[in-house]
Amino acid sequence: MKKILITGGAGYIGSHTAVELWAAGIEPVILDDLSNSDPKVLDRLEEITGKRFQFYSGDCSDRNLLNTISSEHQLAGVIHFAAFKAVGESTRLPLKYYRNNVSALIVLLEWMQDMKIKDLVFSSSCTVYGQPEILPVTEATPRQEAESPYGNTKKICEDILIDVVKSKGGIRVISLRYFNPVGAHPSSKIGELPLGTPNNLVPFITQTAAGIREKLTVFGDDYDTPDGSCIRDYIHVVDLADAHLRAFSYLENQPADFYEVFNVGTGQGNSVLEVIQTFEKVSGQKLNYEIGPRRPGDVVQVWADTTKINQVLGWYPKFSLEDSMRDSWNWQKSL
Ligand SMILES: NC(=O)c1ccc[n+]([C@@H]2O[C@H](COP(=O)([O-])OP(=O)(O)OC[C@H]3O[C@@H](n4cnc5c(N)ncnc54)[C@H](O)[C@@H]3O)[C@@H](O)[C@H]2O)c1
Repeated sequence: MKKILITGGAGYIGSHTAVELWAAGIEPVILDDLSNSDPKVLDRLEEITGKRFQFYSGDCSDRNLLNTISSEHQLAGVIHFAAFKAVGESTRLPLKYYRNNVSALIVLLEWMQDMKIKDLVFSSSCTVYGQPEILPVTEATPRQEAESPYGNTKKICEDILIDVVKSKGGIRVISLRYFNPVGAHPSSKIGELPLGTPNNLVPFITQTAAGIREKLTVFGDDYDTPDGSCIRDYIHVVDLADAHLRAFSYLENQPADFYEVFNVGTGQGNSVLEVIQTFEKVSGQKLNYEIGPRRPGDVVQVWADTTKINQVLGWYPKFSLEDSMRDSWNWQKSL
């Protein structure tokens, strides 16, 4: 059975990707330092798939650990999720973010080159587009100066990958620029596990509905959008996981030293207020929320043009916003 190393595989998107790989006949090998995840995820993955995945607890910038993994498994490639992702924290502790997100990629690439592991799918983000002038954004939309150190790490990592491919370093790479991942596995056995106060809208909504948070604040309803609140492109995490599988299969048929980037979103923007209404509709819960002032640094609206991933990878999202809200709510209830 083909094996792929998933760094950050105990995390939100990585765990869902492990399930999709297994369903497609690929064995995930998981490496995670559990800095933002719970080891119980491994039990949950076993409940869903019937398989106990190989798990290595540690830092993916630990070269000795990577050497151990490659000595124990014949790896077809790597999907690199491991990173810190809290935008606000990154502005307070930028070095923590540069060290973890950038250094780990460098160590990983050196190891891949030494071990002749060719294929890499990298987790990038729509944050690299900033507030684009023209919507929707295509992959050709220019990247803008990052709003946060976190966003900058994604831009720097993309540049590192481009340079390694240009140097004919023997690596084939796809960077996937995720829009806003939401939802949970329909089994409610895995989902997003924010530590502390959630940074993202949907966990904040579900925690408020569950009574963990008193109230949700909508940051601004006076923007130049149809209902005045900010607009994002919300993509169900299982659809996002599937995009990794497609990206990986595509890479395997490409020539040496290949780099490509794809947007992963639904191609549709939804406002914060629309998300709240959809949540209330599918959950039957009235959400306690208030309109607050605008939040500095917020992008007003962004959504993806997904023509490229639709046409080149044959990938289309299957889940709707309603599905995402239902699965997020069921996951919250299971917690
Ligand atoms: N969730 C989003 O909104 C979003 C959007 C765009 C891009 N991304 C990117 O997608 C990737 C996965 O995000 P997620 O939402 O699943 O986050 P997550 O925090 O749930 O998962 C990341 C996992 O990586 C682990 N990790 C972090 N640093 C590590 C290291 N040095 N070595 C080993 N393990 C390490 C954490 O313990 C965690 O389990 C990240 O690179 C993130 O920046 C996420």
